[in-house]
Amino acid sequence: MAQTKKPWSGRFQKATAKDVEKFTSSLHFDCRLYPYDIEGSIAHAQMLAARGIITRAEANKICAGLKNILRDMDKGKIKFNQADEDIHMAIERELTKRIGSVGGKLHTARSRNDQIVLDMRLFLRDQTKEIIGLISSLQKLLVKLAKAHKNTIMPGYTHLQKAQPVLLAHYFLAFEEMFSRDATRFADGKKRIDVSPLGAAALAGTGLPIDRRKTAKILKFAEVSKNSMDTVADRDFIAEFIFSCAVTMMHLSRFCEDLVLWSSEEFGFAEISDAYTTGSSIMPQKKNPDIAELVRGKTARVYGDLVAIMTLLKGLPMTYNRDLQEDKEPLFDTVDTTKNCLMIFTQMLANTKFNVEKMRVAAEEGFCAATDIAEYLVKKGVAFRQAHEIVGRIVAYCLKNEKQLSELSLAEYRKFYKGFSSEIYNVIKLEKIINTRKHIGGTATSAVAERIKEIERKTK
Ligand code: ARG
Repeated sequence: MAQTKKPWSGRFQKATAKDVEKFTSSLHFDCRLYPYDIEGSIAHAQMLAARGIITRAEANKICAGLKNILRDMDKGKIKFNQADEDIHMAIERELTKRIGSVGGKLHTARSRNDQIVLDMRLFLRDQTKEIIGLISSLQKLLVKLAKAHKNTIMPGYTHLQKAQPVLLAHYFLAFEEMFSRDATRFADGKKRIDVSPLGAAALAGTGLPIDRRKTAKILKFAEVSKNSMDTVADRDFIAEFIFSCAVTMMHLSRFCEDLVLWSSEEFGFAEISDAYTTGSSIMPQKKNPDIAELVRGKTARVYGDLVAIMTLLKGLPMTYNRDLQEDKEPLFDTVDTTKNCLMIFTQMLANTKFNVEKMRVAAEEGFCAATDIAEYLVKKGVAFRQAHEIVGRIVAYCLKNEKQLSELSLAEYRKFYKGFSSEIYNVIKLEKIINTRKHIGGTATSAVAERIKEIERKTK
């Protein structure tokens, strides 16, 4: 590797040791920030010219050079040299190589400390938009599935024990709520990303007559940061972004867990398409829900990234410290993992069939109507606690005699409470149970249809 002259070499008598170059370099991962670095530099050069800090001719030369570099980098034509330490230095060296010493004027009134924050903010502004887009596609699919399954009844679970019947549509809309919160969380985080750091320089601003609003305007930032020290020290927006990804991954992971269970023979509620499952190298009969398992597994990585960034920031003295270079790999890992998972999960879900029959049978069995019998007794004037006790005894009787609630005769019901009438058979019908829950947030067909309408109105 060729030893290059460092931009900061003036103070140094000895060349950097090779191993140190390797150890300190971030180029192999921060190179993906190059479009943002160049965009920021062009805006900075334009501002310097507007303020007479460099001439128009110099700015034009710099901007043209930067645009050329961008084109060549897009085409993969530029080979990076690790001795450049980071993407900022790599681009500056390339610029000076192409346009000569005027390239050295670009870094006027700027430090890599405000430059790197700028790159990260521009990068995350784009990533936030992309992730919100991916979440929105998933939300649309969930609404589509809810509409397709507005009559499908399944057992709802608590403690993974059958609890009460619900519509499969209601289940899908539960996840729609979660992802809708995720989207608003990302959108809210964007407010704190969308702040221009340029001009903070190393930490104390600059004595040159810069115009911070101008660069912010060129780069379409909503705001300009208010304190130069905070500006170079702050990585809250990165921690927040990773947290938002971690929550989204957690939601995906919970969904995946259900799909793994549901696609087991024991449940048989769902069948993921062959195209989105994998086989076993030894057991010929196997069709495994590996995507769902991997999404669940990758959630752990994102949690790891969150812990890494929080630990990185803890106890750092003001202001910039080189530790902060370590924010990038966890962030990039989180961005790539979350986007990949959202994309593949949405495809997998779109290619999954739900076994309506099996779900219904499962809802019929297993005493999902027990609460409704207790509520029926309440309507007859029995205190809820007493009603609970009565139905508990009925269930125990059913278990002992291997009967379902619908299979008990009226005489059997009356053994537990005299006031039972034949209405009871209507009370325990699945459709009846579902459709009594008409309140806001309930699982009644009408309540679910209303919620679908609201969501569609909101997202139109
Ligand atoms: N590569 C550095 C980072 O990622 C850029 C800023 C370096 N600043 C410095 N003074 N060494 O944080």
